[in-house]
Amino acid sequence: MDTPRLTVLREIEATVWRELAACVDDKKHPWRVGVLATTDGEVAHARSVVLREWDAATRTLTIFTDARSPKVREIEAHPLGTLVLWSEKLSWQLRLQVQLAIETAGLRVSSRWARMKMSPGAQDYLSPLPPGSPLVHAVKTRESRGNFAVVTAQILTTDWLELHAEGHRRAVFDAQGGRWVAP
Ligand SMILES: Cc1cc2nc3c(=O)[nH]c(=O)nc-3n(C[C@H](O)[C@H](O)[C@H](O)COP(=O)(O)O)c2cc1C
Repeated sequence: MDTPRLTVLREIEATVWRELAACVDDKKHPWRVGVLATTDGEVAHARSVVLREWDAATRTLTIFTDARSPKVREIEAHPLGTLVLWSEKLSWQLRLQVQLAIETAGLRVSSRWARMKMSPGAQDYLSPLPPGSPLVHAVKTRESRGNFAVVTAQILTTDWLELHAEGHRRAVFDAQGGRWVAP
């Protein structure tokens, strides 16, 4: 039996926050991997990223990355980005306008690196070559915090789209509240 469609904006918004909280702890959740789009001022760049943490109080998502990656320079120069998530199960797309920030030092970075360095994923941040650089012979550096960086993405606007056989629906949630818009 199909789950009844939510009809109250408040309930849809609350469900969006609940699913975001769930996706960071569930590797199988379709929102766990999203597409983050940034700009270098001329061209848009989009890539898959894993959502690692959710802070409900500030509606902020956390992503891990390599401090040398091009996205870090793009975010430093243009900190507004868009994160796109799609769940086939919910039939919901989210387009989140996010305020991005990079942290490469401090307690938030070192505490997360302490956990990350015990996992196979640590290798991603210890490569001697920056992401996207040509493959040449390079000497591996001594293990350190590597190039691990934390990206925070604070949600400013949520553009919610539901695909449905009986009619698609779309709503926008931001500091002014929620409103229905044409899909
Ligand atoms: C499923 C999947 C998950 C990924 N997760 C991350 C991630 O969490 N952080 C990250 O920096 N790159 C991640 N990547 C790699 C990026 O998509 C991208 O190739 C890389 O970060 C370089 O991006 P840039 O050149 O735009 O900086 C992921 C790729 C895939 C396919």
